[in-house]
Amino acid sequence: MYHNGTINLLNLALSLSDALDLGSPILFQRQIRSAFVAWQLGQAASLPPEPLKNLFMAALFHDLGALSPDEKVALYRGQAENLDAHCVRGGRLLQTVPIFEPCAKIVRYHHRQWRAWSEPIENQLVLQSQILFLADTLERFINREQYILHQNDELISRVSSLSDNQIHPLMIDLLKSVARREDFWLDLTSPRLYSILLHSAPGRGIEVELGQLIIISEFVRNLIDFRSKFTVTHSAGVSAAASMIASLFGLTELETESMKVAGNLHDLGKMAIPNSILEKNGKLTDEEFAVIRQHTYVTYMVLSSIGGIQQIAEWAAFHHERLDGSGYPFHLTSKQLGIGSRIVSIADIFTALAEERPYRHGMNKNDAMSILKDLGNKRLLDINIIKLLDANYEQIHWLTNEAQKKAMDTYLQIY
Ligand SMILES: [Fe+2]
Ligand SMILES: [Fe+2]
Ligand SMILES: [Fe+2]
Repeated sequence: MYHNGTINLLNLALSLSDALDLGSPILFQRQIRSAFVAWQLGQAASLPPEPLKNLFMAALFHDLGALSPDEKVALYRGQAENLDAHCVRGGRLLQTVPIFEPCAKIVRYHHRQWRAWSEPIENQLVLQSQILFLADTLERFINREQYILHQNDELISRVSSLSDNQIHPLMIDLLKSVARREDFWLDLTSPRLYSILLHSAPGRGIEVELGQLIIISEFVRNLIDFRSKFTVTHSAGVSAAASMIASLFGLTELETESMKVAGNLHDLGKMAIPNSILEKNGKLTDEEFAVIRQHTYVTYMVLSSIGGIQQIAEWAAFHHERLDGSGYPFHLTSKQLGIGSRIVSIADIFTALAEERPYRHGMNKNDAMSILKDLGNKRLLDINIIKLLDANYEQIHWLTNEAQKKAMDTYLQIY
């Protein structure tokens, strides 16, 4: 069940930002670090609280439009073929969440050079975008293998040598004003930056309601599923199926709504998996499957670190566990697997079987149900939930389809 309804926006945003950079060790905390710099520069520029918070949140997600780890690494190395594409996509993705709407434009223009603006630097959007431009650039220039206080002077001169065409001189002045403090550099590169920000950054006092959490979970689901054309609508389907089954099973409205979030986020950990494995056309090797097995562990770690949604974290993350203990990664058994986790497991398999895949067509009711019943009879999945699905198959299938059509519409609008 969804606990006491207090989810902190800052904790949620930091956890998601962190998750977005799990695709490669070289990206570790990259967006969190950029957000720290942007926040410090925004304070130096005397931005009022609301625009400062929007700048900070935009920076936490600024490269979200680069969906795969490969694309993110290319951006980090300055090797992206089309720099504008991830800005456009990122802006559109953020626009789907009302509380992130003010961040969408900042992300849209985070690579726009100073000479391309026609408005003055006093314009708030120009200032925010230019600050993020500088924060992102500075973060990319840091040598992660070198002691930070041995390179800070060099970093400032490298950033200062960017032309006036690229960056307004005020940005360099702002940086120089915060860079005098050693603690700026030490916080920036501290492995504890996440907790430093959790206790001091903008967004601390803002609570997220369940309705907002559902919208945010749809947004995050898009970041996961839009990476591969074969999974574009997968989590939308799981979410709809799981919440419908929960409702038919007699769970409360609060639980049924919470189930939407669990369904949307069940494969969150796939953010850490490269596309070469996600999109592989054919059987996975043992080594590749070992990488896949990490995904629910990551789902669990990210969601449980948000706080206030422990039950949702468990429902989402236990979907590959099996009642006899043969699942992964926690090898939980029927004693430990509650009804919510059992429902998500079944909704996941049901949705996957009914979907088109590169190597097969979507299955019809008879074929899908015979696979599910077989798993139920072997006591791997809960047979009572499978019987409930069987008895209401058409209704659940229709609802799942509708949710998947909607997800496909969003995908087509963003790409
Ligand atoms: Fe970027
Ligand atoms: Fe999964
Ligand atoms: Fe899944």
